[in-house]
Amino acid sequence: MYVTYLECPRCKMRLPEKVLANTCSQCDAPLLVRYDLATIGAVCDPDSFSNRSWDMWRYRELLPLPRKVEPVTLGEGMTPILNVSALGNELGFSRLFMKDEGLCPTGTFKARGASAGVSMAKLLGVEHIALPTAGNAGGAWAAYGARAGIGVTVIMPKDAPVQTIQECVAYGARTYLVDGLISDAGRIVGEACSRLGWFNASTLKEPYRIEGKKTMGLELCEQFQWRSPSVIVYPTGGGVGLIGIWKALQELRSLGWLRGSMPRLVAVQAAGCAPIVEAYHQEKEESTFWSGAETIAAGLRVPKASGDFLVLSALRTSRGTAVSVSDEDIAVKQALASRWGCNISLEGAAGLAAIAQLADEGWLYDDDEVLLINTGSGLKNPGGPLPELPVLDIDASL
Ligand SMILES: Cc1ncc(COP(=O)(O)O)c(C=O)c1O
Ligand SMILES: [Zn+2]
Repeated sequence: MYVTYLECPRCKMRLPEKVLANTCSQCDAPLLVRYDLATIGAVCDPDSFSNRSWDMWRYRELLPLPRKVEPVTLGEGMTPILNVSALGNELGFSRLFMKDEGLCPTGTFKARGASAGVSMAKLLGVEHIALPTAGNAGGAWAAYGARAGIGVTVIMPKDAPVQTIQECVAYGARTYLVDGLISDAGRIVGEACSRLGWFNASTLKEPYRIEGKKTMGLELCEQFQWRSPSVIVYPTGGGVGLIGIWKALQELRSLGWLRGSMPRLVAVQAAGCAPIVEAYHQEKEESTFWSGAETIAAGLRVPKASGDFLVLSALRTSRGTAVSVSDEDIAVKQALASRWGCNISLEGAAGLAAIAQLADEGWLYDDDEVLLINTGSGLKNPGGPLPELPVLDIDASL
């Protein structure tokens, strides 16, 4: 167990590890877990991981749960990276790879954050967790809460994807819908947690979700033989996955385990809710609340992310960029991916739309290798109406 302390990235306030913490008590910024990287580097190296369990817990030294404690797991992580150059050709850029998080338990990368977050909550004695969600995080935390025997309350916009509402109910979470956005759900959760003593597991209001999502970055480097593709494209709502991937890359670089250069990170948002893209292009350090947020990609409908300053700093430090895409383009790109056998989420499809834009603008170099994080399975989005299909008699032949 190599955690040294929790740290506020804004005011540098430190907290001892193993306390049940939400945000920085001085400035309310998200807290980050810091590790004794020198000791980790002395006790293991990249080869140490090769014979370990095929899930995100293989990176145990870089995760906060003490080694002797069993994680709350459903087998999350180690998702495949597919070469999707044929799909890429249709977008104008063929050196395209996709890490398919749709294969995680509950069908999205949210399983990683929930596995780490619920494992730590259980260790620290939490009995009830509450969180606002666009849908998928609720499903994941409800599943891992059920696995751990911890109560879970979720609040989500009433127009969240119906599959995600159903799965929260099925996993036994207390499930509420709100006639508003995830930010409205977040306010109600915050009040309930202060009054009822529940643990607030909202995005970036506890430090361990990032650590789970960080494993996407650790994994992708291991899968690329301990180097990184030159561009990583990430569909960004709260931005936790992007912050986590960037944290992973920095830790690997400090350990000396990452060969070659750091990637350029690309945050993708929907045109109907693009606060981080706007702030990036206006050269601001934080985003402004986006009123009237609307998009078919529910996971991207976050009008103001509390970790926006971390996302913006990662985009700038990595010499990346931020791109917004229309809902029409998202739907077209989801259908296009299906024609190459990939049933991707609307959020992942937003990433494809962004790659087509970047190729068109000449932002991508010929020798770039672009990795799209497909954050979820297309099965999590309600499909459109079925076309009229022929129904055959049982003795029919074609
Ligand atoms: C499928 C999917 N992709 C992307 C996101 C955005 O995630 P993040 O908070 O890491 O930006 C979400 C969040 O709900 C999601 O469900
Ligand atoms: Zn602080």
